[in-house]
Amino acid sequence: MQDLEAIVQEAIALFAGIEDADLLEQAKARYLGRSGALRDAEKSLARLAPAERPVFGSRLNAAKQRLETALREQRDRIQSRRLEARLREESLDVTLPGRGSGTGGLHPVTRTCERIERLFRSMGFAVADGPEIETDYYTFTALNQPENHPARSMHDTFYLAGGAHLLRTHTSPIQIRYMEAHRPPIKTIAPGRVYRVDSDATHSPMFHQIEGLWVDESVNFADLKGVLIDFMKRFFESDELQVRFRPSFFPFTEPSAEIDMSFGGSWLEMGGAGMVHPHVLRNVGIDSEKFQGFAFGLGLDRLTMLRYGVNDLRLFFENDLRFLKQFN
Ligand code: DAH
Repeated sequence: MQDLEAIVQEAIALFAGIEDADLLEQAKARYLGRSGALRDAEKSLARLAPAERPVFGSRLNAAKQRLETALREQRDRIQSRRLEARLREESLDVTLPGRGSGTGGLHPVTRTCERIERLFRSMGFAVADGPEIETDYYTFTALNQPENHPARSMHDTFYLAGGAHLLRTHTSPIQIRYMEAHRPPIKTIAPGRVYRVDSDATHSPMFHQIEGLWVDESVNFADLKGVLIDFMKRFFESDELQVRFRPSFFPFTEPSAEIDMSFGGSWLEMGGAGMVHPHVLRNVGIDSEKFQGFAFGLGLDRLTMLRYGVNDLRLFFENDLRFLKQFN
């Protein structure tokens, strides 16, 4: 049998040199395990004379305890070395500059829309809204559009499967919905997306309009001109701006006009307008003997293009960040 002290010295030296947790547990088994060196010593206890047993027994216990302590210390050492290594690997340089939060910005058409809403609100107009998926009734019939009007054709309008619904071709149906829900005095604008079967440099199948409606007892064509000219001058921040009202036809207004604006020596069409047709008022149950008013519809994208000097409508809807970033 090996000398107890020699066994302890050998084990402690061995443990101290082990850097791996699994190897350390294997080394432990060699001394404290079922067939380990200390168990051999324990077995020899039985062969000793009874008087010698207590002394050897307590030496044996002391030896076991020293080994346990050495093991525990080495386990702790291995663990803290592992932790240090991990901290070194995963270290974070807090002095590096951040990556930034990549905040987005408003689309130029949204900017225009918000600006127009602000201008009209300052003139006492409320801002209304309506569904993009409409019925034939709100889009055409209630607006005095005859059954055979070409705008109703599949050529120009996106119909949903089944044919009962369509993508609104203009923001004018909001006039009807608003007048069904409110009695005069009515003074509102309604911006939104509209859809037509059309696509080239100046036409997109989806574009934006802004509808206007002012109905009261004596709102007249002079008010229409006053409001729109004032709006255009404020929108383009120019008192020199020329606005022209050209006679035209819309089924939902009488008389009707097309609104042009002088730009770079030529006239540009900005939208349509007119006095709300008595049939339209009748369709929403407003007495056209007592009330009258005007309506208009302007192209929001066109206004945005002119304000920012953009020459191709498609740029607005391609979502190219290089283009969009210029507005923020
Ligand atoms: N809805 C017409 C269009 O999309 C524009 C329009 C013209 C709206 C005259 C109006 C109006 O409210 O009075 O072409």
